[in-house]
Amino acid sequence: MNTEVTIGPAEFEQALGIAPGTLDARTTELLHSAKLTYARIDAAGQSALEAETMQRIDEGFTVVGEHRKEIWRDAWQEQLERFEASGYDLTALNPKFVDGSTILRWQGQYVLSLSNQFELRVMEILRDVLFRTYLSDVDRFFEFGSGSAFNVAAYAKLFPEVPACALDWAPAAVRIAELLRERLGMKVRGERFDFFAPSKDLVLGPGAGVFTMCALEQTGDRFGAFLDYLLQQRPRRVVHVEPTVELYDPTTRHDQLAIEYHTRRKYLVGLLPALKKLAADDRINLVYSRRLRFGSRFHECFSIHVWEPKE
Ligand SMILES: C[S@@+](CC[C@H](N)C(=O)[O-])C[C@H]1O[C@@H](n2cnc3c(N)ncnc32)[C@H](O)[C@@H]1O
Repeated sequence: MNTEVTIGPAEFEQALGIAPGTLDARTTELLHSAKLTYARIDAAGQSALEAETMQRIDEGFTVVGEHRKEIWRDAWQEQLERFEASGYDLTALNPKFVDGSTILRWQGQYVLSLSNQFELRVMEILRDVLFRTYLSDVDRFFEFGSGSAFNVAAYAKLFPEVPACALDWAPAAVRIAELLRERLGMKVRGERFDFFAPSKDLVLGPGAGVFTMCALEQTGDRFGAFLDYLLQQRPRRVVHVEPTVELYDPTTRHDQLAIEYHTRRKYLVGLLPALKKLAADDRINLVYSRRLRFGSRFHECFSIHVWEPKE
């Protein structure tokens, strides 16, 4: 039996929850050239991976919070130096934490990725779809918790005329964004920002588009100050790509492990319920909310929530 599978338009449409045959030509082409191939893993293999994953979780991971500020400062400083040493090659901005494993989570199973940089490629294609679907009609783009600024650079390549701003609490993350403008001529700037204490001086404007990716995850249950800031700023649209513990299925072992990992690291809790409550109170439109059912071995960063403040 051939256990190799290539992710084509049909699989991607299913993951995104869109009707068969409706994926646009550009995404279809991106999938085609990425040749995303993985091997299925049988039931015995799934069980062995579940046991091994639980053991790794038990061995311990660091917990998120203020004390990790230095870790991020050093990580982005290293990335900044790599970017400079590469002569400002955008691929030098790809963060090390993407593609840490060849075992990935896909549609409720562990799979073995066979193609090069599988996780990064899926992430790039997803990002491209989201930018074009939800952030093409904004007059300014802001990514909060922007890290290496590789998302901001990708946005600036797609929409070079739209001013883009990269915000992060790590100084080197801000510096990378500045270099995108100084060295590569992109309409990008960087600014310091702390999710725990958003500056009221940062004005987004009514036509703004906001993006977060695997960044609010770092705030645990303390995303409230940022959400309040967004509600007060009233940008046009907000797109979150964040691990969403509420969307795992606690009745499956596969998801129990992701919940365990997420909970032990004290990742994001409560964002989706808060958005649903705001929608029920008629304060926002929750335009799209979907778990892609794709992630690294331990959890899934790729749940997407798109919302708009209401008039
Ligand atoms: C996992 S990285 C994701 C970076 C980027 N969005 C990406 O997709 O690669 C998390 C980012 O959140 C930033 N971060 C964590 N806590 C923060 C806080 N309280 N305020 C601002 N940025 C924060 C970190 O510095 C880091 O850049």
